Amino acid sequence: MLRDMQELTQRLWPSRWHIGDLAWIWFQHTGREATCRTALWEREGRTAAWAWANLPEGSLDLQLDPAHPELAGEILAWFAETGGRTVTVLDDETAMIEALLRHGYQEQTGRPFFIHLSRSLADPLPEPAVPDGYLLRSVRSEDDAEARAAAHRAAFTLPGGPPSKVTTESYRDIMRAWPYRSELDWFVTAPGGTPAAFCLVWLDERNKVAILEPVGTDPGHRRLGLAGAAILAALRTARELGAESARVCARGDDAYPSARATYMSVGFRPYARNRTFVRPETT
Ligand SMILES: CC(C)(COP(=O)(O)OP(=O)(O)OC[C@H]1O[C@@H](n2cnc3c(N)ncnc32)[C@H](O)[C@@H]1OP(=O)(O)O)[C@@H](O)C(=O)NCCC(=O)NCCS
Repeated sequence: MLRDMQELTQRLWPSRWHIGDLAWIWFQHTGREATCRTALWEREGRTAAWAWANLPEGSLDLQLDPAHPELAGEILAWFAETGGRTVTVLDDETAMIEALLRHGYQEQTGRPFFIHLSRSLADPLPEPAVPDGYLLRSVRSEDDAEARAAAHRAAFTLPGGPPSKVTTESYRDIMRAWPYRSELDWFVTAPGGTPAAFCLVWLDERNKVAILEPVGTDPGHRRLGLAGAAILAALRTARELGAESARVCARGDDAYPSARATYMSVGFRPYARNRTFVRPETT
């Protein structure tokens, strides 16, 4: 099913999704079947839409071929049956936004939201540098899964919060997923060898576009230029492999500026944003 979704995503580029986003979301945690429901719609023998209901929070992610706007209502009916009420789309998905408003959804404002940023890889990509004692390298094999998963958990576990659910096992699934390539998976180790920062880039060879998903630094090693260095190293490799541009998603609201600032420090600029719509309980 994932490959059918990725086929649509690749065919519709540029859009909200990249084939790497789908692989990451699909495999980052084991046991995803228990936390989401997925559906595909086909027309003329190929995927025309996919939808992904996240449970139990009741939110929907989706992609609809603009050649089939008539499917929007069907997708929302399928989603309503899951009990979910929150739908996120890119701001240029006009047919889907019109369908949401027709079905009684209202735009959610004043809440966290995500923006999309991009940069050309024809522009200079400076040589990455890390402080003395730190080591920057790409992943070599599945033997690095444990270190990569540990680095991920360190970066994405909030103080006092539950640990990130990325494990060595789920990271191995990531490494086996299409289109993962170890030479695009960069990480930094601190003096003593502890994993400190990382940037995983996914390449869509057909559209010559790379995405960053995810990027992180252990809180004990932030503001040392480690994320920036890992990003530059991964982007330089992506360019060698044929990428012409790169894209990334980050929080756009002022409550969470660090990721956006990091990406802008290495040349990314915002070009689009997500919009979220909620179905009132009475409809
Ligand atoms: C966002 C994150 C990856 C940045 O990692 P980092 O290694 O500290 O980033 P760098 O040191 O390379 O920062 C490069 C530049 O980005 C900007 N920047 C980074 N963090 C910032 C912050 N908290 N506030 C403002 N600017 C910031 C600065 O311009 C910085 O350069 P400077 O330190 O010389 O001023 C890290 O804070 C993190 O892991 N956060 C949690 C996970 C996350 O949100 N990941 C991104 C979403 S996938």
